Amino acid sequence: MVRGAQEIRIKHLQEEDWREWRLLRLAALAEAPYAFSSGLEDWVGPGDREERWRSRFRSIPFNAIATLGGTPAGMVGATAPSNGESELISMWVAPRARGNGVGGALITAVADWARNQGATTRALDVRAANAHAIALYLRHGFLDTGRSPSGTDTLPEIRMSKSLL
Ligand SMILES: CC(C)(COP(=O)(O)OP(=O)(O)OC[C@H]1O[C@@H](n2cnc3c(N)ncnc32)[C@H](O)[C@@H]1OP(=O)(O)O)[C@@H](O)C(=O)NCCC(=O)NCCS
Repeated sequence: MVRGAQEIRIKHLQEEDWREWRLLRLAALAEAPYAFSSGLEDWVGPGDREERWRSRFRSIPFNAIATLGGTPAGMVGATAPSNGESELISMWVAPRARGNGVGGALITAVADWARNQGATTRALDVRAANAHAIALYLRHGFLDTGRSPSGTDTLPEIRMSKSLL
């Protein structure tokens, strides 16, 4: 995909690419702690171990990064389908790259992968206060299906889903 002069490319990472995931994930946790259930403090110092980063690739089958104009600009993951549903997780676009279609390209990459895996639905949980993320998902056809059990009273989350059929 090309928007203006800046090309968006998606790279599906494998376990041996864990360093690329680590760099972006640490940047995401530092920049947008309001968006994720993991905290930066869990992934620095003693939590910052090669084996731990590698183990993500064994438990989460789809991990992709996006580059914008050749520079790493965003990331997303997706779970293996369960009862036909794959969950989109770990979405982040670097602030300098926002508003260029990177989030949309990552959503499309998850859809293509999940459909190939036999999923019929994509779902996600998003903090109810995360207006930019909710707007992105609504623009890409996700529907708000109500409050998610993964939220709390102080940090409510909503569940959104989209059919892949
Ligand atoms: C949600 C997110 C992925 C959207 O990034 P994106 O797809 O590049 O952004 P969009 O294309 O939807 O941006 C639309 C507009 O909103 C702006 N925008 C997007 N996210 C913004 C943010 N967090 N703060 C301020 N402005 C933002 C963009 O700059 C753009 O502005 P423009 O129309 O003037 O160019 C990104 O904001 C982000 O990574 N947020 C932090 C992590 C997060 O919330 N993840 C989701 C967890 S469920």
